[in-house]
Amino acid sequence: MVNEAPAKSFERIGADYDRYRPGFPRRAAELLMPAQVGTALDLGAGTGKFTELLVDGAQRVVAVEPSEPMLAVLRAKLPLVEAHVGSAEQIPLESGSVDVVAVAQAFHWFDRESACAEIARVLVPRGTLGLIWNHSDPTCGWDRAAHRIAHPAMAESDGTTRSAADQLPGFLFASYEQIHSTERIRRDAYLGRWSTVSTFLVADELGRSEMFAAIEAVLESDPETRGQDEFDLPIVTDVFVYRRA
Ligand SMILES: C[S@@+](CC[C@H](N)C(=O)[O-])C[C@H]1O[C@@H](n2cnc3c(N)ncnc32)[C@H](O)[C@@H]1O
Repeated sequence: MVNEAPAKSFERIGADYDRYRPGFPRRAAELLMPAQVGTALDLGAGTGKFTELLVDGAQRVVAVEPSEPMLAVLRAKLPLVEAHVGSAEQIPLESGSVDVVAVAQAFHWFDRESACAEIARVLVPRGTLGLIWNHSDPTCGWDRAAHRIAHPAMAESDGTTRSAADQLPGFLFASYEQIHSTERIRRDAYLGRWSTVSTFLVADELGRSEMFAAIEAVLESDPETRGQDEFDLPIVTDVFVYRRA
């Protein structure tokens, strides 16, 4: 796996991740499954924020996730989903048994070559792989500034996500769509969200309080957020769809 320590940081959270992180627009799942499928796999499923969108479109939904605390939340929320501890590099499923693999906010943690080989192994011929990322909206200055402080890798919309998703071995690119949505978010929930990102989780005590102070300063300096308990947070969701070659 790449970037071992930050990827493993998710082993320490579960409930907070589920409480603070945003969900995904339904349209993202519809792009992967325009019609009902047999089996859909959510890989790096976390607490099931994307898994729950797969339930209506597949007869069987499977979640694979390395972090037990994340999976415990998923199991409690989605008892009908088959949930397995596992990784993208070692998927605990039969070859050719999955119609759609979804990877939400997680592909950048995978070892690209071995994960692509494993995903291709479990997919049926011409099966679908969808890579999904939420990220900041370039038109929202205060959220961009907060990202630059606490999550620089996800600050640029067409940077990280595109390069992570480019040219996957064993897959043919099928489509790309950007979905825009807006979330009404409380100030404390916005700050809480930052406590669930990997850069924060792996920082020491001082690093964390400096990050919080810097984000508070951004909120206090922008007229859209200064003195507000709640604000509108625009979110961009990138959806890349591939077919197994
Ligand atoms: C940012 S979270 C996204 C979780 C969920 N998909 C969502 O969108 O809410 C990244 C997830 O990837 C998982 N992860 C990290 N490395 C992984 C790997 N090599 N294989 C599978 N999952 C991995 C983490 O445990 C974590 O749950």
